[in-house]
Amino acid sequence: MLLRLLLLLPWAACEVKIPTVEIAKGVQMPVMSIGIGGLERSNASEIVANWINQGGRGIDTALIYQDQQVVPEELAKAGIDRKDVFITTKIPSCIVPSVKFSIESDLKLLKTDYIDLLLIHDPIGDCPKAWSILEDYHRQGVLRAIGISNFNASQVDTLMKTAKVTPAVNQIELNVLEYDAEALERSKQLNITVEAYSPVGRSGHSGDIRDNQVIKSIAAKHSVSTYQVALKWILQHDNVITFQSSSAEHQAQDADVFRFQLTDEDMKALDQLHGNSTGGVRPILV
Ligand SMILES: NC(=O)c1ccc[n+]([C@@H]2O[C@H](COP(=O)([O-])OP(=O)(O)OC[C@H]3O[C@@H](n4cnc5c(N)ncnc54)[C@H](OP(=O)(O)O)[C@@H]3O)[C@@H](O)[C@H]2O)c1
Ligand SMILES: *[C@@H]1O[C@H](CO)[C@@H](O)[C@H](O)[C@H]1NC(C)=O
Ligand SMILES: *[C@@H]1O[C@H](CO)[C@@H](O)[C@H](O)[C@H]1NC(C)=O
Ligand SMILES: *[C@@H]1O[C@H](CO)[C@@H](O)[C@H](O)[C@H]1NC(C)=O
Ligand SMILES: *[C@@H]1O[C@H](CO)[C@@H](O)[C@H](O)[C@H]1NC(C)=O
Repeated sequence: MLLRLLLLLPWAACEVKIPTVEIAKGVQMPVMSIGIGGLERSNASEIVANWINQGGRGIDTALIYQDQQVVPEELAKAGIDRKDVFITTKIPSCIVPSVKFSIESDLKLLKTDYIDLLLIHDPIGDCPKAWSILEDYHRQGVLRAIGISNFNASQVDTLMKTAKVTPAVNQIELNVLEYDAEALERSKQLNITVEAYSPVGRSGHSGDIRDNQVIKSIAAKHSVSTYQVALKWILQHDNVITFQSSSAEHQAQDADVFRFQLTDEDMKALDQLHGNSTGGVRPILV
């Protein structure tokens, strides 16, 4: 009995429990999803396994990542039902002749008959027309929620002129150093949930979040890491997150941001870091 208790303790200590938010009528999305894009695509199996085995339920993938097949594989290995996870995937663009084919490919690769949230990865092509195809799938219940990614304010405005369904989510680059403030504002005004990608700056890509002095002092005050502060700042501004880590320990630490609260003063200091990025362009294939 005692032995069992001791064996259970380390797991109990790192159990991941992520709250959800309503992104569309009747659709609850975890506020943090693990991402399997970018340079780490070769680790996709390990990333998903580590996440779902410690309780994570949101997964972010895309057709261009070429790794969607690991999702059903790892769910089967872990004995977790499809309906108990929230899968976000994407179609590459608004290029109309490829829209149906891309959606059908996502469904096949994920071995599922529905997708929780499907995003248009990039606003390239005829987005109003592409959106109407997504709306058809949404009406049929194949796509529970539909959204966009990398849309700036004017691209959102163009889409909204003809959209019958408001995008549930706009997934954009958003971290304490780097974001398009106008895209963020416009999305919020339209009640489009903003989902941050590269929320911890993608290992230095958006500048040095880990060793930033302002973030460090706030982290020390709350006895958390700079990663946790960077993530909490996003959540406390009512946005959701897709983040990436191969390591089960890092994943657990990053998910452990629901037992502390940043003060108004902390939030103001962090807001002022916008523009302090030393980063460059968006990484390839993410
Ligand atoms: N829609 C789009 O166009 C788009 C673009 C980019 C990304 N995304 C999505 O967003 C996801 C996340 O973004 P991202 O991968 O660019 O960047 P990110 O989540 O900001 O950064 C990931 C990096 O941070 C490190 N990290 C995370 N937590 C850590 C911790 N506690 N301690 C130390 N290191 C830590 C990870 O290393 P370790 O593995 O060593 O922990 C990894 O190298 C992607 O996987 C993808 O699904 C979408
Ligand atoms: C915004 O959208 C969410 C999800 O559909 C909904 O729960 C909420 O009531 C909406 N808020 C406003 C102000 O319309
Ligand atoms: C894949 O995961 C291993 C083990 O966590 C790590 O050492 C390696 O750096 C990761 N590869 C990439 C490309 O992130
Ligand atoms: C949005 O992006 C397009 C294409 O890059 C650009 O022409 C336009 O000026 C941008 N608009 C805003 C408001 O950023
Ligand atoms: C950078 O951060 C400082 C506060 O630490 C702030 O005063 C400044 O406006 C920020 N932006 C730029 C572009 O330097």
